[in-house]
Amino acid sequence: MTAPVHSAFANTAEEAIAAQDALDAATPMTSEKATEVAMQNTLLTPRFYTTDFEEMDAIDVSSVREEWDILIDQMKSDPNKGHFKKTDEWDADWDGMEPALKAEFIDFLISSCTAEFSGCVLYKEMKRRGSNEDITTLFQLMARDEARHAGFINDALREAGIRVNLGFLTQKKKYTYFRPKFIYYATYLSEKIGYARYITIFRHLEQNPELRFHPIFKWFREWCNDEFSHGEAFALLLKTDPKLTESFTNKLWIKFFLTAVYSTMWVRDHQRPVFHDALGVDVTWYGQEVFRKTSEISKQVFPMTLDIDHPRWRPNLDRMEAASRQIAAAKERGGVLGFASRVGGMAKAAFAFVSIFTIPAHKNAVPDSPRMEPAY
Ligand SMILES: [Fe+2]
Ligand SMILES: [Fe+2]
Repeated sequence: MTAPVHSAFANTAEEAIAAQDALDAATPMTSEKATEVAMQNTLLTPRFYTTDFEEMDAIDVSSVREEWDILIDQMKSDPNKGHFKKTDEWDADWDGMEPALKAEFIDFLISSCTAEFSGCVLYKEMKRRGSNEDITTLFQLMARDEARHAGFINDALREAGIRVNLGFLTQKKKYTYFRPKFIYYATYLSEKIGYARYITIFRHLEQNPELRFHPIFKWFREWCNDEFSHGEAFALLLKTDPKLTESFTNKLWIKFFLTAVYSTMWVRDHQRPVFHDALGVDVTWYGQEVFRKTSEISKQVFPMTLDIDHPRWRPNLDRMEAASRQIAAAKERGGVLGFASRVGGMAKAAFAFVSIFTIPAHKNAVPDSPRMEPAY
């Protein structure tokens, strides 16, 4: 296999990774720190997942065939081929960036790259293990997109002298096992919340172009459209088995994943105040706005939305954030006192989580046809 010119033009995830490896080999790195950061597995860092691929391979999409074929054709037509590559519009100025902003922005890029690549390895593996043509076709297309996304972020990082070593991560990062249904809930949500995050920043910078401190944000619209399609695919997969969204236990699981995904995002974003300041984005407003869009979209398939305007919602998200700071500081401190403070922090976080998890949700009557177009 000869590597293509650039991951942006790759037709498969494998080609995209090979192209990125070639670039890595040609560029001297000043630091492997990005890979170290990407290797971390905490509650707040993106993880790699593995699942029961046989069970997933057995999915029968015939009940959603018409919509399935339209979506797959759209993804095959590949409207974003070649998009994830620097052009004349790329005007990155790493040297002119405030050090505090640079640090948080790099952290944001590493975390985003790891999350993109996490999707890539899961989807690529499903493609490799499966024999159901509907499923392998979909997962190959999604893996292709995620590899391009991760590759493009790595292009941006490489200019700052760092990169995430994708090959190394694939082999060495710990994989977390999730049952297929949990993969559907978690991945559906992360694709849709990814769309909501990227489009909210893109629209904000469209209104305030002077705040765009790095060119990568100019690429966000097409980017989030890819994520939107991926989410659509998972919505259809969820539709193939009504039990997944209708049984009592599964409804609880959906509520759990909504709560976990939203609160993780909140805590993580609040750890990057300088980054959000530079974008002119109030991070609390941003969080609520992204939740609102994601909730609206998720009505296509989830039987409930969280009540994010409930009086218990924000105070407990803030408590969780404070608890996470306490845990981080306690880890740093170490010793018996550090340990005690860490346990205390975890208890606080758990208590706050339970407090938002038990807020009554808004019921939602799910439409027969889930398909939506990106509208924000
Ligand atoms: Fe992506
Ligand atoms: Fe995606």
